[in-house]
Amino acid sequence: MSRLRTAVVGATGVAGQQFAATLADHPAFDVTVLTASERNAGKRYRDALTRNGAFGWWCSEPLDDRLAEMVVQDAEKLDPHSVDLVFTALESDVAKRLEPVYAEHVPVLSTASAFRYEEDVPILVPGVNPDHLPLIREMQQRRGWKGFIAPNPNCTTVGLVLTLAPLHRAFGLNLVVMTSLQAVSGAGRTPGVLALDILDNVIPNISGEEGKVEKETRKILGTLSGGAIVPACFRVSCTCTRVAVLEAHTESVNVSLSRPASLAEVRGALESYGTEFTSLGHPSSPRRLITVTDDPFRPQPRLDRDNEDGMTTTVGRLRECEALDNGFKYVLLSHNTKMGAGKGCVLMAEEMLRLGYIG
Ligand SMILES: NC(=O)c1ccc[n+]([C@@H]2O[C@H](COP(=O)([O-])OP(=O)(O)OC[C@H]3O[C@@H](n4cnc5c(N)ncnc54)[C@H](OP(=O)(O)O)[C@@H]3O)[C@@H](O)[C@H]2O)c1
Repeated sequence: MSRLRTAVVGATGVAGQQFAATLADHPAFDVTVLTASERNAGKRYRDALTRNGAFGWWCSEPLDDRLAEMVVQDAEKLDPHSVDLVFTALESDVAKRLEPVYAEHVPVLSTASAFRYEEDVPILVPGVNPDHLPLIREMQQRRGWKGFIAPNPNCTTVGLVLTLAPLHRAFGLNLVVMTSLQAVSGAGRTPGVLALDILDNVIPNISGEEGKVEKETRKILGTLSGGAIVPACFRVSCTCTRVAVLEAHTESVNVSLSRPASLAEVRGALESYGTEFTSLGHPSSPRRLITVTDDPFRPQPRLDRDNEDGMTTTVGRLRECEALDNGFKYVLLSHNTKMGAGKGCVLMAEEMLRLGYIG
């Protein structure tokens, strides 16, 4: 099968660069268009990434030579007929305007929040909620689109929901309390977080983040019924903070399960989760969606963010929580631009290709 012509929209940003890194040599998706704002249109990708003389390529992989030489287009002028698939990494207000223009014609997989909360739009997490995929057909029918918009969740939701899914399935959830310590790269480049504000510091609030994580978690673990998703009925309470870490979000999670379980059962549910999905062997898939560590000083961003190339959620400090009924607590680490954004979206696209939603 020939590779699908693929556009990366917002390719100069933090999440967009992760798309470019993941797709540089992809067996199914061929990057034929890179876009950014009007400011960078007409420049070679390499030059568009350079600001004030400094090369702003962010990813750990080297920039692919072919992509570096491609001429960046203005996202506003992207002709959706010229590609088979679009990955978008735009701020929400721009995504709200541009994504429907593309989706009228082609599938759009998005890192933005613009459409996440609409009734006919699922929020997709690879291996977690394939049962929500049929809502895509509903969206196409209701909106008269040939394509669709498939957003991934907020990067903080991704690790949380991946670890809650097996617990919800095996034991039921009553209550989730999560405090995040989020990396600076999660704020992107425009405007991003000022070094003066974050170095030697913790910022105890990220505007709008807590509401997103609470809402998305319940939607992703909810049930598709009658053309909409009925949110899961457990309670979620979050505190989201920004810390002086470059990449990967750490989250401290306390859960109250619906029924009693032993520590071994909880651990087993986490460790065995998603094997059906990972055994499909998608190019961007980790071998395990969740990796559990017994080291009481892990996970740590510096040591664990690149586990399975940033595609596994590492769980440590798993223990009982006596303050809650059927309580357990743990610390998780999830790579915010890999599984949490660009590479996670590509993995979802690989699964959607297999299932016939793309291609
Ligand atoms: N960073 C993360 O870890 C992460 C994780 C999950 C989801 N997300 C989401 O992904 C999206 C992008 O985030 P980011 O962190 O990558 O942001 P970013 O670094 O600020 O990048 C924004 C991108 O959008 C382009 N852009 C800005 N204004 C535009 C316009 N008017 N028309 C067309 N393109 C425009 C920028 O191009 P120029 O360079 O030309 O300005 C750049 O390529 C956001 O919705 C964010 O919430 C981010």
